[in-house]
Amino acid sequence: MIRLWNRWWTELRKQLGREPSASEVSARFRDRERVFRAPPMTPELVRSIEKISPQFHLAPTQQSRDFWELTQNGSCWGEFDALEPLLRALGTPAKVLEVGCGLGRSAVFFKKKLPWGETDLHLYDSDGPRIHYPRTGERTDRSFCGDLGALRQVLEFNGIDGYRVFDARDLDCRLDEMPGPYDLVYSFYAAGFHWSLADFWKELDGLLHERSLGVFTIHRNFEEFDGLRALPHRMVPFERSLAKDRPLRLLVVARDERLLEPLIDSGD
Ligand SMILES: C[S@@+](CC[C@H](N)C(=O)[O-])C[C@H]1O[C@@H](n2cnc3c(N)ncnc32)[C@H](O)[C@@H]1O
Repeated sequence: MIRLWNRWWTELRKQLGREPSASEVSARFRDRERVFRAPPMTPELVRSIEKISPQFHLAPTQQSRDFWELTQNGSCWGEFDALEPLLRALGTPAKVLEVGCGLGRSAVFFKKKLPWGETDLHLYDSDGPRIHYPRTGERTDRSFCGDLGALRQVLEFNGIDGYRVFDARDLDCRLDEMPGPYDLVYSFYAAGFHWSLADFWKELDGLLHERSLGVFTIHRNFEEFDGLRALPHRMVPFERSLAKDRPLRLLVVARDERLLEPLIDSGD
């Protein structure tokens, strides 16, 4: 009931053109450390955020900056709380790939929160007006809604280094053009959530070595597919940043079952 009310209230505020406020962020995340820092909210940044997160009605104000920073950290904390034992067990991975990094919240969060100073982090996304963005289903080459310029600004504002940005369009939108293999490949609200992971799987599979991990946000109707069934994997629930949103699950995949052991107590 409370969730329904929150959902209705958020939608109404958006329709009325009202800026969102911190009260819409789940109480469990409001007072957590702000690892990710939002740069000043310019009209350009508002436009970039709204392409990726059209559910937000932001303005170039401190209130919107504060709200966006809170939601980005809330999302990161929810995922981190679910994955921390697994990520800690990885130590300092040599090479990591993020697929569909958006404006870089997770890249910043992981670089600052984990011992990833020496990690070579590859960020794969592309600029785009989001022409075709199915909620689930097959990937298209018209689904990009990123802004690589804004991404670089956000990363720079957060003072992180040791990353490389890859424009998917330079790679014919194919992941197997990426210079793998990677110790960790992750994708939050992109491959596995907006597009069928099965469709990406052949390309992704080739980027994983014997001790790699893959982590993907999955949608509620996610169904296993042949390539996945052949590998050890777990589904891990996690909390989301907005009070109105119900928990979702992360899919964690490894070739070596032992790498999944740190997750044993976090649910399946
Ligand atoms: C909903 S956003 C998620 C952004 C970020 N991962 C986050 O959780 O905040 C989806 C991202 O996937 C990117 N994307 C779109 N099509 C893609 C594709 N075919 N392959 C990889 N990423 C894609 C979009 O450009 C966008 O940045």
